[in-house]
Amino acid sequence: MRRKLVAGNWKMHGSLAQNKALLDGVLAGVADLGAMDCAVCVPFPYLAQAQAMLQGSKLAWGAQNMSQHEKGAFTGEVSAPMLLEFGCKYVLVGHSERRAIYGEDDATVAEKYVAAQKVGLTPVLCVGETLQEREGNITEQVVGRQIDAVIQAAGVESLAKAVVAYEPVWAIGTGKTASPEQAQAVHAFIRGKIAGLNKSVADGLVIQYGGSVKGANAAELFAMPDIDGGLIGGAALDASEFLTICRAAA
Ligand code: PGA
Repeated sequence: MRRKLVAGNWKMHGSLAQNKALLDGVLAGVADLGAMDCAVCVPFPYLAQAQAMLQGSKLAWGAQNMSQHEKGAFTGEVSAPMLLEFGCKYVLVGHSERRAIYGEDDATVAEKYVAAQKVGLTPVLCVGETLQEREGNITEQVVGRQIDAVIQAAGVESLAKAVVAYEPVWAIGTGKTASPEQAQAVHAFIRGKIAGLNKSVADGLVIQYGGSVKGANAAELFAMPDIDGGLIGGAALDASEFLTICRAAA
């Protein structure tokens, strides 16, 4: 049985004071959550704050991006070993905002995935199609290509130490959630594709759904057989919403 994972993606939001209030609020409800995993992915400057506040709690933490390089003359970049020093468990790689706004292609995302695993971080590989791609009926082709890039770089067995987040780009921050059936279909495609290469890796793989998940729709999404929790943007900035989503995964 896979344990569901609910992870907050704060994006570029927060301040020391706001984060403290938010994390205090989440921590107040997190201990009773039971059999599920939860985490928050915070902006780099707040990793130390997350570490100080969350150490020893059920709530893990991580980053939203990292460099594919271990060290060197890469001004403005942050490496995987640095994230590890701040106790990160997870790091998002290939979020659609990184792909679309910062031009990260499949090969770069795969390099980041490999660099994260090299130091023992769990990469959360984000995949998903745009509206145009969905309407052009190439969702499976796009998502398949994004997954193939990491399989080519690291082998299918590497997915035993990774999480996949299916996030249709048209559902992110738009209030338009994929229906549970629409999401399930893509999740089943992803798991089936991986099962064709390694069944036990596919059976154990946590595949999160992301895109306008909130307290009101989490339970029906998480009830689908191949949806193993969620990657939560906007709703993760509200402690009681986030906890409601976590409870739906327990
Ligand atoms: P959203 O963002 O929940 O605000 O749609 C999800 C994400 O981008 O990870």
